[in-house]
Amino acid sequence: MTQQAPTLQAIKYERGSLQVLDQLRLPFETVYKDVPNSQQGHHVIQTMKVRGAPAIAIVAALSLAVDLHSSFSASPASFPDATSVSTFITTKLTYLKTSRPTAVNLFEAAGRLSSIVAAAATSSPPATAESVVNAYLSAAEAMLDRDIEDNKNIGRHGAEFILRHNPHGGDMVQVLTHCNTGSLATAGWGTALGIIRDLHTHNKLSHAFCTETRPYNQGSRLTAYELVYEQIPATLVCDSMASALLKTKKISAIIVGADRVARNGDTANKIGTYQLAITAKFHGVPFVVAAPSTSIDLQILTGDDIPIEERNGVEVVQNRGRLMGSAGGDGREGGDVPMGTVHVAAPGIGVWNPAFDVTPAHLISAVVTERGVCVKKAGQNVFDLKSFLA
Ligand code: MRU
Repeated sequence: MTQQAPTLQAIKYERGSLQVLDQLRLPFETVYKDVPNSQQGHHVIQTMKVRGAPAIAIVAALSLAVDLHSSFSASPASFPDATSVSTFITTKLTYLKTSRPTAVNLFEAAGRLSSIVAAAATSSPPATAESVVNAYLSAAEAMLDRDIEDNKNIGRHGAEFILRHNPHGGDMVQVLTHCNTGSLATAGWGTALGIIRDLHTHNKLSHAFCTETRPYNQGSRLTAYELVYEQIPATLVCDSMASALLKTKKISAIIVGADRVARNGDTANKIGTYQLAITAKFHGVPFVVAAPSTSIDLQILTGDDIPIEERNGVEVVQNRGRLMGSAGGDGREGGDVPMGTVHVAAPGIGVWNPAFDVTPAHLISAVVTERGVCVKKAGQNVFDLKSFLA
């Protein structure tokens, strides 16, 4: 087994305090930002300081935990009974759900936490305000450990699947991944990147390739940063190089995360995922979606009904980074030049900036969750995720 470096910590929480690693400043500056209440939780999610489906849900839930803890400690008289606490929580959860629309984990967490609070508030013997506060805090805090445990299981199941279905044979694999699905997008370890970590830990990974992931560069800024940090052998490619990569190198699988998986397996994920699935099919390479079961939305039958966030076009026409000094070029030089934004497109051009696309189930080889690997039944074009999760 390869010795693992400690994984990056995107979320630092203890009761009454939440800090998040500001992902807008990576890979050059490591700055944690205090999130003292739900308003700030909403803000860090909406402005992409925190991103990635599981991390969004956890930060939303924990920002409310801090808000609730401090509001209740500062003024218990404002919460005369269980119902007042329950109303405080559900109002804030409704607000937090407006931060970003596509990743279902936020909506799943809000629904589950609301049910826990409703059950605590109406329990017998009659609940107190304090008991409802404690029920919320325990449930929100449990999300951190649960996410890491789920990711480790996803990593194990996904690694086994990829080793078994390597179209090139052999007992080592090289894979391509897209966007950022690692410690920075989750509570730790990661989903698709968790599979890569598992393969690397067991000396089964010969090489990982990651895409830049334009326009937001989650690949070149965040995934590349995680891979370098953990000394996993890796190479960065532009999004437009994927087909050439599959044609030229022996890629064993493409592994991506998910923001929302419909009941039939259609998967919304970072823009650019769909074209990777098409090229994987064309080249006979397995295309694997890795996500916790909380990313599966059984209420949505097909990907046509998944809401796709469109973001400000400024993300397409501008690039954020650090100007390198004359000695620069490898990402390490540049002294203390602050990070900044450069305009790269012709001024006046129109822009379309969907943050996600939907990959149809027929292009997906497997959906890997913490519960195991779901594949399509023989002769079927779609997955039966309802039965898989039953
Ligand atoms: O816009 P982002 O950065 O939040 O999008 C993130 C992705 O699309 C990830 O691939 C997905 O959320 C899976 S994260 C484990």
